Amino acid sequence: MAKISLPAYNDYCPQTLFLYGTYDENGDPHFGLFCWFSYIWDGEMGVMCCIGGNKPTRTNIERNKVFSANLVTEKLLPVADYLGNVSGEKSGKMDIGLDIGKGAALDVPVLNDSPVNFELEVTDFIQKHDGEIMLCKIRNVLQDESLSSDETVADKLARIAPVSTTAHTYLGYDGRDMGGWGEPMKAIKS
Ligand SMILES: Cc1cc2nc3c(=O)[nH]c(=O)nc-3n(C[C@H](O)[C@H](O)[C@H](O)COP(=O)(O)O)c2cc1C
Repeated sequence: MAKISLPAYNDYCPQTLFLYGTYDENGDPHFGLFCWFSYIWDGEMGVMCCIGGNKPTRTNIERNKVFSANLVTEKLLPVADYLGNVSGEKSGKMDIGLDIGKGAALDVPVLNDSPVNFELEVTDFIQKHDGEIMLCKIRNVLQDESLSSDETVADKLARIAPVSTTAHTYLGYDGRDMGGWGEPMKAIKS
């Protein structure tokens, strides 16, 4: 296989998408879209994630030390794309009629329409120059009860249809092109 060398980049390495749920200082729920999210092991499974630059989600996590990570599915994509392309600094960002619930173990907002919600507590904040890496304990996983059925994992995944992203493009569970960043949000009114 002939290769070419490129500067640091991650095209063709699809990532799973999550909406991070936090509470603002005044107690209002707040959501933003994130993909730099993976897993760690330290006697039990944990989560590592990175937030680049300053943004309300980061400020909220630094203050509260807890947040939710809600799996993005094809059904949620327009809303997720909006929450990733509209800054939380914009007043009224959250006025789009999300169905928001509460975590079972932690004081975090969760998206009721997402089939998997992690409730995360940050144990380590690693500050870099512009970004911050957070290591988290998984205090609870809320999962759609229908995912406990006898279907195969493949059938369940095809049903909930998580979205991945690479090269500024969203991909459906079957690899279908679901549009570039900033496109799916055109389907919702804000
Ligand atoms: C597909 C996609 C993935 C993103 N992933 C991340 C990420 O992993 N880390 C990050 O810092 N920002 C990421 N962003 C940018 C944030 O979603 C964006 O800064 C957003 O405004 C955050 O919400 P907030 O401003 O309400 O905090 C991503 C944006 C998109 C469109």
